[in-house]
Amino acid sequence: MIWELIQSLTTPANPVVKKLGFLNESIGMEARYQRCQKSWDPHYQQCQQVILKAASEATQQNTLLILGAGSLRDIPLKALSESFKKVLLVDLLFLKSARKRAKPYSNVSLLEIDVSNSLPALLQTRSAKDYIQHLIDCPPKLATLLGTKVVVDTIDCIVSLNLVTQIPLMPVVKCAARSETSPEQLADLAELLVQQHLSLLTEVDGVKCLIADQSISEYDRQQKLVDCHDPGWGVSLPIDNLAWSTEWEWEMLPFKESGIGLKQVHSVSAFCWA
Ligand SMILES: C[S@@+](CC[C@H](N)C(=O)[O-])C[C@H]1O[C@@H](n2cnc3c(N)ncnc32)[C@H](O)[C@@H]1O
Repeated sequence: MIWELIQSLTTPANPVVKKLGFLNESIGMEARYQRCQKSWDPHYQQCQQVILKAASEATQQNTLLILGAGSLRDIPLKALSESFKKVLLVDLLFLKSARKRAKPYSNVSLLEIDVSNSLPALLQTRSAKDYIQHLIDCPPKLATLLGTKVVVDTIDCIVSLNLVTQIPLMPVVKCAARSETSPEQLADLAELLVQQHLSLLTEVDGVKCLIADQSISEYDRQQKLVDCHDPGWGVSLPIDNLAWSTEWEWEMLPFKESGIGLKQVHSVSAFCWA
């Protein structure tokens, strides 16, 4: 608890990101990783393999961009740093442990960016309707998000890493707390955020790789399926020329962690296309 408090007080982060609770979420995820390492490491290793395979399909090795870098544990940093001129890692914030992991690599940069381009508006708007209007008026564009940090044309490989289903979570929670929000508006804004993220990936001409939860299932101690839902809000993936895909299961919440006698298993898929 004390270490979590120290991290909360000493980690630099954008005030909007802090106010929306993302810093505490990241600290909580880090603590959960320490408790669930045995069931999380195989998932992280799968992600690393997929990223390496996607990166190896790039025809040039100028820039590799990863969105949703988080802890960096699921990123094969050394290999990527050796093969690409620039490796750009994007997330809302980076804890000290992630910064330490990136430090040895001079061509790896950590960029604190809101890839939905909507979090200040989430705080400023008074209704879900206004927030949805902001999403429609100001969709995220890579060139705007990255600014002068990189020219989009030089990105040879882009990876969305366990991020797409996370993007709508906070907006849905915040808008659900506004009394006049309807369930349809929540579904609309979540769907829009997912679609806008998928469009963002297609701005890159090079290799595109999407690693994402496809379903979340809950099992009781008799291994009986109790619940299963689609975290992608029903958005189908607009991928025409898929080069390859793969999938695996991630025991995200083992029994000992869940506290309610149910374990949570995520079915994760990876898609790669050019
Ligand atoms: C499931 S985690 C995956 C992170 C990382 N790959 C890992 O497991 O260590 C999702 C990540 O998405 C980030 N995230 C959520 N919304 C975001 C946004 N709008 N822009 C950028 N990153 C966002 C969170 O900060 C978090 O680190």
